[in-house]
Amino acid sequence: MNTFKKNIFLLILVSLFINCESKTNLSDIQIEKKVDEIIDQMTVDEKVGQMTQIDQRFLDTITDLSTYSIGSLLSGGGSHPSVNEPQAWLDMYNKYQSETLKNRLGIPLVYGIDAVHGHNNVYGATIFPQNIGLGATNNPELIYEISKATSLEVAATGIDWTFSPCLSSPEDYRWGRTYEGFSSDPNIVENLGAAAVEGYQSVETETGKKVIACAKHFIGDGNTEFGTGMNGLVDRGNTILTSEELKEKLLPKYKAAIDANVQTVMASYNSWNGIKCHGSKELLTDILKIELGFEGFVISDWQGIDEIPGDYKSDIITSINAGIDMVMVSGQGQPYKKFMKLLKESIQEGSIPMSRIDDAVKRILKVKFSNGLFDSPLVTNESLDIIGSEKHRDIARQAVRESVVILKNDGLLPISKEISSIIVAGRGADNLGMQCGGWTINWQGGQGDITVGKTILDGINNSVSVDTNVIYSKDGSDLSSVSGDLAVVVIGEDPYTEFFGDKDSLDLLKEDIDTINQLKNKGYKVFVLLISGRPMNVADHIDEWDGFAAIWLPGSEGDGVSDILFGDYPSTGRLSYPWPIQAEKGANAKTSDLLFDVGFGL
Ligand code: BGC
Ligand code: BGC
Repeated sequence: MNTFKKNIFLLILVSLFINCESKTNLSDIQIEKKVDEIIDQMTVDEKVGQMTQIDQRFLDTITDLSTYSIGSLLSGGGSHPSVNEPQAWLDMYNKYQSETLKNRLGIPLVYGIDAVHGHNNVYGATIFPQNIGLGATNNPELIYEISKATSLEVAATGIDWTFSPCLSSPEDYRWGRTYEGFSSDPNIVENLGAAAVEGYQSVETETGKKVIACAKHFIGDGNTEFGTGMNGLVDRGNTILTSEELKEKLLPKYKAAIDANVQTVMASYNSWNGIKCHGSKELLTDILKIELGFEGFVISDWQGIDEIPGDYKSDIITSINAGIDMVMVSGQGQPYKKFMKLLKESIQEGSIPMSRIDDAVKRILKVKFSNGLFDSPLVTNESLDIIGSEKHRDIARQAVRESVVILKNDGLLPISKEISSIIVAGRGADNLGMQCGGWTINWQGGQGDITVGKTILDGINNSVSVDTNVIYSKDGSDLSSVSGDLAVVVIGEDPYTEFFGDKDSLDLLKEDIDTINQLKNKGYKVFVLLISGRPMNVADHIDEWDGFAAIWLPGSEGDGVSDILFGDYPSTGRLSYPWPIQAEKGANAKTSDLLFDVGFGL
């Protein structure tokens, strides 16, 4: 056992000991017994309700929660309460949970959200670097702390479940979700993913609130062939691997998450050898539940079953029989009522055996019991201060500085804090939204001051001495010619999420190149900072730059970048993805085609 594992093991022992007296910790046998008692009393309608998950935005009337004994709500990207502030999130949670509890058997809701880099839908929450940056830290203890901090912020608003960690190991950088993976190397993902699961699920607040993690997207989400996905690109495409290859390469990541006791797994939109994962009994039942012994429940992805060939009813039958336990129905126009009606019909006709339904409901109820939801689901506002607290922002800042990968430095770093003047330029220099990327406040993220945090410019301003003249220029055009002065130029990608980020070219924007050239032509030395969700095409430009660092999508604490620029901390960030000369070749490129290999960083 390495030290990290040892520490975790000790923590688990201690918490087991403490929890002996906690009312939320029933033994497995007690839970089984209680679950069986409830299932014996449940009608088909109530079972169907438990298997249904709805985005709160698309709830027809709130009383549907109790009428249909709905099992779960989610807030998809951007599904906020009418005012986006922590108290309103908590009120929203309590409102829905109280209504749900009125169902005949008093079964609580499990409320899910994509807290994928902090509690990122909530205004004012700490926004941690996206996973690609965390991969560059390659620091499992830190990832444990980040995940724990995230869970504390999630739990403070009452929410029970985060759809994280993403265990993809992306290979084609044209994929818009590359940044959701820690690394293209499944071994790194395995190690960091398990630490994330442990961190997320380590939390139990004073009111007994715990947070459930979700390993996603099962399986092969990062390995699809270019051209087979949506719009002829990568997302939701087809992954081609033999059964042996899949098991050897991709399964250990899930095994490690299951060993870390991950309680839910999300099915993936992609296909495996032409068959949608959502409809594959081989994957969801034979491999995940039987071979890996996963005892939690499987949630489908957002309208993910709809992509199985055939009509909606056959999608339901195929996916539930394949092993999906809860369906993320979502979408507009009350599709959940249609879903519940068709699921019930399929059960009554015998297309889905009652044993499969009971198994699904049993898995869902077990998770609800283990997490104390039957005891104390409602929350008070006592813990709200933890959201965006200094303590959590400090962890995020540490993560940012450990994620910066310096790829070129012609004697510019560390910059002296006494420097007489410094230019800070580029679209990303003073742009919180851009440095946070997708999955921040809204599904696709946003530009500018979308939440609370420090931009790269703020960080530089706070680092230099009072005598330093910091000159901010968005595109360099308003600056006069100077010889030899330093310009830090922050360029990169605009925020995107999922297929919106699929691109067939990973060239830098012309606008960004123009800004750099303006500064070069005026005689400045340029240190380029790239905000991006993946390696990009820099090979044709890097010779003209005096320094270059990848800062990925650092999140709300931009001052972590200046910690490195000014040498307050040593630079420890290393590439967790190889950086090809032609970025479109992704992680599959041969070593000879690489500009920088995995592990590189100055
Ligand atoms: C994504 C998932 C996410 C879910 C809920 C889907 O589109 O693929 O990663 O958890 O939406 O927002
Ligand atoms: C939701 C996301 C979800 C996506 C799936 C959006 O409307 O807000 O959470 O992942 O749809 O396409």
